[in-house]
Amino acid sequence: MSALDEITNSDAAATAQQKAIENANRQTAPMAPFPEFLKYDDNGCSLDLYCKRKPDMEPKMLKWAFKLAERNVGPQYKACSLGWQPKVKQSDLNKNWARYLVAVDRATKKPAAYTMFRFDLDYGRSVVYCYEMQVEAEFQRKGLGGFMMKALEKLAQHYRLERVVLTVLKNNEDGMKFYRRLGYDIDENSPDKADNEAYEIMSKLML
Ligand SMILES: CC(C)(COP(=O)(O)OP(=O)(O)OC[C@H]1O[C@@H](n2cnc3c(N)ncnc32)[C@H](O)[C@@H]1OP(=O)(O)O)[C@@H](O)C(=O)NCCC(=O)NCCS
Repeated sequence: MSALDEITNSDAAATAQQKAIENANRQTAPMAPFPEFLKYDDNGCSLDLYCKRKPDMEPKMLKWAFKLAERNVGPQYKACSLGWQPKVKQSDLNKNWARYLVAVDRATKKPAAYTMFRFDLDYGRSVVYCYEMQVEAEFQRKGLGGFMMKALEKLAQHYRLERVVLTVLKNNEDGMKFYRRLGYDIDENSPDKADNEAYEIMSKLML
């Protein structure tokens, strides 16, 4: 293959990634093709799931999402060099580009878990970027977190996105075990050991 062919091929690949992201971002109901991910009835759970953009989320749900993150990972943030910065977390959770997948208890109507994500280009790769995965304590270890990560993977596959990418604090050993168990590995763009960052970037190839 000539050098020119190689450039043309890599341009075509970049355009394909860009187009895939544009298409995913146009979707107002990206989970609609997968009704099987809009119910979770396993391990004693009876939950309904919905997927919404941030502007369509009820303010009380956004407050709950913040409080749950604070309860679940606030202590790990406090224990590392990043510290717990509530204003930063509030602002991150309220970005207009944010999409939420939320699981709600069918009987009590109380929320049980959420993931906040977006479709994005990350170092030129088309990805589902998972910013948060939070499960209420009483619903943990019932397969729900794994189910919701599978929903994100389904989105990546369906919309032909290369990877699911996420960040996790290094001191969150349970979180790391959870992602590893689901097949996630340290991403090539994760900070070098020498950088001594408090977090790791993990990803899973989808295509
Ligand atoms: C980590 C978290 C998202 C996992 O969700 P979950 O619904 O509890 O996990 P699942 O039941 O789907 O677990 C799937 C597998 O992951 C692993 N795993 C999950 N939680 C684990 C834990 N606390 N310790 C060790 N392994 C764990 C296990 O292998 C588990 O399978 P098993 O229960 O059959 O052994 C959830 O516990 C949580 O919200 N934790 C606090 C917030 C957090 O750490 N979020 C992730 C990083 S931001």
